[in-house]
Amino acid sequence: MPHLSRRNFLKLTGSSAAVGTLSLSPITHAQQDGNNAAPGNTTLPYPRDVIARLGDLKPNQPLSFHYPDDRSPCVVIRKGRAVKGGVGPKRDVVAFSTQCTHMGCPVSYDQASETFKCPCHYSIFDPDNAGQMVIGQATENLPRIVLEYDEAEDVILAVSVDGLIYGRQANII
Ligand code: FES
Repeated sequence: MPHLSRRNFLKLTGSSAAVGTLSLSPITHAQQDGNNAAPGNTTLPYPRDVIARLGDLKPNQPLSFHYPDDRSPCVVIRKGRAVKGGVGPKRDVVAFSTQCTHMGCPVSYDQASETFKCPCHYSIFDPDNAGQMVIGQATENLPRIVLEYDEAEDVILAVSVDGLIYGRQANII
């Protein structure tokens, strides 16, 4: 095996200083996978999904959908009055993940109290106040699905999530 002397090594690399300034650009997963995430951006983009036609939403009746993927159950509710984070002409349409932030049990919407209730350890969340945890074992609010209203098409779109969906390190995986 040929021996490379220090002198020849320096000739090949130009100078000893060049060795110290050699820099490499890290290759991101996005570049390797060829997807459209910006280099250096660690957050993949949320999908923009049509989840309901506004006219199909009945007041105070939840409608199920999944967002941002098929493993994340959610409901959208038309409250009939303006609420925090609501969209639509009356700013009354809101949506939430239905996985409890305590241990992931499925919460259900109680029409009488107009709250989300968890059957496992009785946490309660307030959809009129952006999913705020009211009482119980949970310490985090219910993740709110950020919505937009497309007036031309009269549809509600899910565009991102405010809060971390239970059991995930990132909402987009
Ligand atoms: S899983 Fe909902 S309160 Fe424990």
